[in-house]
Amino acid sequence: MESALTARDRVGVQDFVLLENFTSEAAFIENLRKRFKENLIYTYIGSVLVSVNPYKDLEIYSKQHMERYRGVSFYEVSPHLYAIADNSYRSLRIERKDQCILISGESGAGKTEATKKILQYYAVTCPASDQVETVKDRLLQSNPVLEAFGNAKTLRNDNSSRFGKYMDVQFDYKGAPVGGHILNYLLEKSRVVHQNHGERNFHIFYQLLEGGEDDLLRRLGLEKNPQQYHYLVKGQCARVSSISDKNDWKVVRRALSVINFNDNEDLLSIVASVLHLGNVQFAADEQGNAQVTTENQIKYLARLLGVEGSVLREALIHKTIIAKGEELVSPLNLEQAAYARDALAKAVYGRTFSWLVNKINKSLAYKVNLSLTCWRSATVLGLLDIYGFEVFQHNSFEQFCINYCNEKLQQLFIELTLKSEQEEYESEGIAWEPVQYFNNKIICDLVEEKFKGIISILDEECLRPGDATDMTFLEKLEETVKNHPHFLTHKLADQKTRKSLGREEFRLLHYAGEVTYSVTGKCYTTTTPLPDTRVTSHPHFPPLQTVTLPFSPPISSTQFKNSLSKLMEILMSKEPSYIRCIKPNDAKQAGRFDEVLIRHQVKYLGLMENLRVRRAGFAYRRKYEIFLQRYKSLCSETWPTWEGRPHDGVAVLVKHLGYKQEEYKMGRTKIFIRFPKTLFATEDALEIRKQSLGKSSVQCNTFLFLLSSAITIQSWWRGTQGRRIATKKKWAVETIRRFIKGFIYRNYPRCSENEYFLDYIRYSFLMNLKRNLPKNVLDKSWPTPPPSLYEVSQLLRQLCMQNMVWSYCKRISPEWKQQKVVASEMFKGKKDNYPQSVPRLFINTRLGDTFSLSFLVISVPAIGDVVLQSDHVIETLTKTAMSADKINNVNISQGR
Ligand SMILES: Nc1ncnc2c1ncn2[C@@H]1O[C@H](COP(=O)(O)OP(=O)(O)O)[C@@H](O)[C@H]1O
Ligand SMILES: [Mg+2]
Repeated sequence: MESALTARDRVGVQDFVLLENFTSEAAFIENLRKRFKENLIYTYIGSVLVSVNPYKDLEIYSKQHMERYRGVSFYEVSPHLYAIADNSYRSLRIERKDQCILISGESGAGKTEATKKILQYYAVTCPASDQVETVKDRLLQSNPVLEAFGNAKTLRNDNSSRFGKYMDVQFDYKGAPVGGHILNYLLEKSRVVHQNHGERNFHIFYQLLEGGEDDLLRRLGLEKNPQQYHYLVKGQCARVSSISDKNDWKVVRRALSVINFNDNEDLLSIVASVLHLGNVQFAADEQGNAQVTTENQIKYLARLLGVEGSVLREALIHKTIIAKGEELVSPLNLEQAAYARDALAKAVYGRTFSWLVNKINKSLAYKVNLSLTCWRSATVLGLLDIYGFEVFQHNSFEQFCINYCNEKLQQLFIELTLKSEQEEYESEGIAWEPVQYFNNKIICDLVEEKFKGIISILDEECLRPGDATDMTFLEKLEETVKNHPHFLTHKLADQKTRKSLGREEFRLLHYAGEVTYSVTGKCYTTTTPLPDTRVTSHPHFPPLQTVTLPFSPPISSTQFKNSLSKLMEILMSKEPSYIRCIKPNDAKQAGRFDEVLIRHQVKYLGLMENLRVRRAGFAYRRKYEIFLQRYKSLCSETWPTWEGRPHDGVAVLVKHLGYKQEEYKMGRTKIFIRFPKTLFATEDALEIRKQSLGKSSVQCNTFLFLLSSAITIQSWWRGTQGRRIATKKKWAVETIRRFIKGFIYRNYPRCSENEYFLDYIRYSFLMNLKRNLPKNVLDKSWPTPPPSLYEVSQLLRQLCMQNMVWSYCKRISPEWKQQKVVASEMFKGKKDNYPQSVPRLFINTRLGDTFSLSFLVISVPAIGDVVLQSDHVIETLTKTAMSADKINNVNISQGR
């Protein structure tokens, strides 16, 4: 990011915190303008991204761009949506903390495009698997469906979202998207029955008529021509050249099938029923009571909704008043009947939309696989695409809700930004300096406080029996909140401001500016009855509610307040990132920078306030390593390398650069610079230094080339070594695993699991046998064979024995054989140590040649010691052998 600092005169600063005159709105807008002219549509305010709709394809959303932002620090690349998306994703993965990205701005400012681009970024860059691919597809394909039912052409945007959307994307422990959930807010139902000039109803109606197959249309009782339907021609522009309903219909159909809507005829029959409802006409009878004149429509409606025609007809021309616990039914006049019809159409469509969102949610639901035991580790990233502040000539309840929502979001923003600033100061060990800012809690309270807040009063007035009108509501409001500094009405205003306020208006001084709301309209203070339980059998058919004050919402304002506070809770539990979208002109034209329009948005988006909070302390902060790396060439002590701690290096550097005490602070890991001019001066010095260094750049380049070559070779060799070791380890692990598996399966018949083990056991038995074969025929030792070699072992043993006997026999001389036969006859079974004497040949003498035996002493226990002269020995032995049983334990000792 610093790399663009030098071009700041031409392209402005990439971060508004670097604006010298940060309190000047003119300087802010000038910076936006400079960048917009250079097609640089993104600029930061700290970590908030400001985006200006270019209204042209900038080719900055390719795969290569996505790769450029993947895993890269915020400040290393120029501002982009992807940087925000990537930053949130990385925090989600590393810190395992839920994230949310809040996208706000006027209609047509580029919120929905930004949401889609962020989703695409995740679809491309996140890890994938078959299941994940399906989820990614569904997440992406839910958009065209929601847009068909919730978007419409308006004067400001051909594809304007007429509802607020909060979408959660769930990621598993591997960082792959595995599920999603959508919450919708404030669908603009009034569009179903009325559109301003130049605007259209929701896309789906036109798409169905343009693209629907003849067969389908016939079944739904529809004609191809949108001009035939009252609800489609209020804005007198059913067909628009920039929109291809036919193609969009195909996209929607395909998307419907991806998100599991294979049978969508039910859904389309409701869409068709709204069109038929719009064509229901009334005429007054003599008493002025409304009567239905278009029986054909009732017939179609009855068929499509599965309701009795008569029930429907009655419901449209009668009302029920509950008085003193009794139900009184009375006819409606023409105007009331038309109102009841429109209310019904809006309610039907609203319900269908909610049903659709629920259905999409079911198809996006994270199918928890308990066996993977990873369900608890799923983290969530939320995307909020909701209108920014709206200020029109005529502001109604809708704008009131939207602005209240933005008031709450601002409160959240201030709280969280200040909190994170404070936390950073704390962790860096820098004293916190309190920031003066406008706390808009006072306005939130004015709207939402129990009993005393505008919403409470409105609800109370709507539910009050009797003649509640918009004017009584206003009076009650004046009475309750008259002293509030952010509330004004015609009656409460002073002489000067009174002129700018109508009698049916009240004004709120929002944090972003004043908005005047009107409470006028047609009044139906009594309830307009609609068929209730009788027709609720249809899945989308609403229990038709009462219709009350025109300023009152189709849902109760308390309901909206509650859903908003739930949203705030969701957002509060996550780490937020912000994208503020700006529309450069009303003509949807590329390259046109309408300053007045932009100033208005800068004001109502609260950007100056954002900047003030962010700049309250320091304009710039960076980790010591990064700061030192960039600016080390400016000081001889830190150039070319600093060996010590980066913290000390930066201290030396800033001292050398002459930073004054009040210009900076040293934190634990970062340097904080208070003024942009300090940073700019350093940046300019760096530029000059680079130019002087340029002369020795050839040498420097050679050195760098050699260095990088050495590093490349080193890394290749290390890679090779590493791979070899890894292969060895892998082999070892594999062998051990096979061995253990083989051991477990050792008693099974030979199979792939145990063949290695069995072979090894056989081999080791045979090798062991080879080393330990019996040495002679009398050696009966034999290693224990494994069960599989039992038979083989027996055979080998026999063979071995036969072999030894054979070779033994081969060695025996005839004389020896004879002697042994004689000996066997004489001693076998009679002498204890006979078996030991079998392998040895009897010899004539054991005395050797060197000495002669003088005598032998034979100790015979029964006889006592017998001393024999040598020439008597053989004779005596032979004799004695005759009575061998007497000389069993003969001890013979020899002497001279
Ligand atoms: N980043 C962008 N690049 C090019 N065109 C854009 C971009 N963002 C928005 N647009 C154009 O502006 C139109 C309105 O944008 P959209 O996101 O629908 O506005 P919003 O949701 O704020 O009402 C889009 O249809 C598109 O033509
Ligand atoms: Mg939108």
